[in-house]
Amino acid sequence: MKKIVVLSILAVFSLFVVSAAYAGGACPQPRKTKAAPGGTAKMDKTAGANADNGKKIYDKTAKPMACKMCHGDKGDGAGKLGAALKPKPRDFTCAATMKKISAGQMFWIIKNGSAGTGMVAHGKTLKDNEIWDVVKFIRDEYVK
Ligand code: HEC
Repeated sequence: MKKIVVLSILAVFSLFVVSAAYAGGACPQPRKTKAAPGGTAKMDKTAGANADNGKKIYDKTAKPMACKMCHGDKGDGAGKLGAALKPKPRDFTCAATMKKISAGQMFWIIKNGSAGTGMVAHGKTLKDNEIWDVVKFIRDEYVK
């Protein structure tokens, strides 16, 4: 009898884990992020940006914490801190969602944050050219 109880608890628990993992990996990703104002959405300064510097910012130096803590080592939104967030961090590897997100839109959200989500504003800790560096890195490395 005890064994059955333990087994059914395990079964319910594993269902929960599977569904949580599935929700994390949904692609296209549900997205209600505010749109950047027209001019900014169309802006793109990645041509002159430095992707190597962008990688440093993404992996290490961004404040209050590295982008990868939420967006993941592989840009798939599966970072350790991101797991608990609702909405989930953007999965940059999800083409169905990312094809609608311009470089200027990314720049604007990184600078201003996405109100009411875990995505904080970086406009006080990163200069505009550093934001373009990280946009270039993400688009070159993860967005396919
Ligand atoms: C504390 C976790 C966290 C950190 C750290 C973080 N993000 Fe985010 N990010 C999020 C979440 C959550 C969203 C989803 C926001 C939404 O749904 O509107 C997001 C969304 C985004 C988007 C998508 C914007 C859009 O229009 O869909 C970009 C680009 C982005 N983050 C870049 C970055 C960069 C670059 C850094 C580092 C400088 C960073 N993020 C750091 C949690 C984080």
